[in-house]
Amino acid sequence: MLSLIETLKLRRQKLANLIEVPIVLWSGGRSSRNFAANVFPFRASSHFLYFAGLSIENAAIRLESGGLTLFVDESSPASALWHGASPSRDEIAAEIGADAAYPLSALADRVADAATVAVQDSQTRLKQAELLDRALSSTHPQGIDLELTKAIVTLRLIHDEAALEEIRKAVAVTVNAHQAGMSATLDATVEADIRAAMERVIMANDMTCAYGSIVTVHGEVLHNDRYHHPVRPADLLLADVGAETSTGWASDVTRTWATSGKFSPTQRDLYNVVLAAHDACIAAIRPGVEYRDIHLLAGHTIAEGLVDLGILRGQPADLVDMDAHALFFPHGVGHILGLDVHDMEDLGDLAGYESGRTRSQRFGLGYLRLDRPLRSGMVVTIEPGFYQVPAILQDSERREAYRDVVNWDRLAEFSDVRGIRIEDDVLVTETGSEVLTAALPTSVEAIEQFVHS
Ligand code: GLY
Repeated sequence: MLSLIETLKLRRQKLANLIEVPIVLWSGGRSSRNFAANVFPFRASSHFLYFAGLSIENAAIRLESGGLTLFVDESSPASALWHGASPSRDEIAAEIGADAAYPLSALADRVADAATVAVQDSQTRLKQAELLDRALSSTHPQGIDLELTKAIVTLRLIHDEAALEEIRKAVAVTVNAHQAGMSATLDATVEADIRAAMERVIMANDMTCAYGSIVTVHGEVLHNDRYHHPVRPADLLLADVGAETSTGWASDVTRTWATSGKFSPTQRDLYNVVLAAHDACIAAIRPGVEYRDIHLLAGHTIAEGLVDLGILRGQPADLVDMDAHALFFPHGVGHILGLDVHDMEDLGDLAGYESGRTRSQRFGLGYLRLDRPLRSGMVVTIEPGFYQVPAILQDSERREAYRDVVNWDRLAEFSDVRGIRIEDDVLVTETGSEVLTAALPTSVEAIEQFVHS
């Protein structure tokens, strides 16, 4: 296993092999909440982190022929007073294997010829555009910036050993967090109690959440960010929670469990439909397989299960062709995972979509975030679901369009299911796949046991 510096140097050399022009990447700065000194936690741009390895605020790196020059200011006495001592510029340079290090002001003379990626924080992005004297867009880069973006995507799509080790660390903590959430459920009064039990594990491991936790009895709200609902015995609880390591690597896991510790027959039936889709998708993962086909396989398996339960009528293949599965499974089956939970989504679809492909307008494909053939070393999520979303199921045009294929009376018998999602993080290997989150069970029986533990 390479050391951190060796890994970083190798990544920089690989980048230099893909693009000849110099590159400047900014880390970004903190955003304030409501007054300057009350700031949101800092998290460096993922492209910076990938090559610099450290989350350094207000810094930039110039990459050229495999070498790295660091630009960062020494911390001020006031910063030391309020935030404690920081490493010096030279110490940071040594830690990341920089060849040289200068104050940030020295960057002005070293950017004119460089390619870059626009960062998310708007203040830094303005400075980038000013120094480079051109308009910047991370989702629609032009010229050398596009060339750089493509090179970065090529590297970051396929994880090296160091990246996988970090993702495994995040995953291990996430698995424990989910177990803690299940165990805390019988004593929970509101969703926030379960969220606290889960995030406590992440915080106790000195990690942060890779995204805003979703811990809700309203699983039909796909990215629910409220935690005040009472937890009642007849509910299903959907928890989509993932840890991020201190160097920024993410995990992303969802489980759904019965708050009473026992799934009702209807909850169990629909849970097992989603589980069948989850298992079928994972079994199909191997290099060369199109991720879009994995998504369609999820749709097919869900349609098949819903036909068996009498909720849908028809042949599964026809139902998928007409997007009937998307009435209940309206999102994509997953995405790439890495330094970002939706890895490189700051680049729009440049990372998720193979060159020349664009988003489909189809109801059942529009939210597909990844449309590439799978390759060994990619990490993807597999996260099929079943949801009763009022905005979809009560929409008069959709009800008319799908009038003949949905048995609405039968569907009404499943009213104790609002949302189910089962999500694992999967490494594509040379011969198939490895479920990185396999330590967290998915079967009804195992999950019920955890809730009672
Ligand atoms: N886990 C949140 C998401 O994938 O959007």
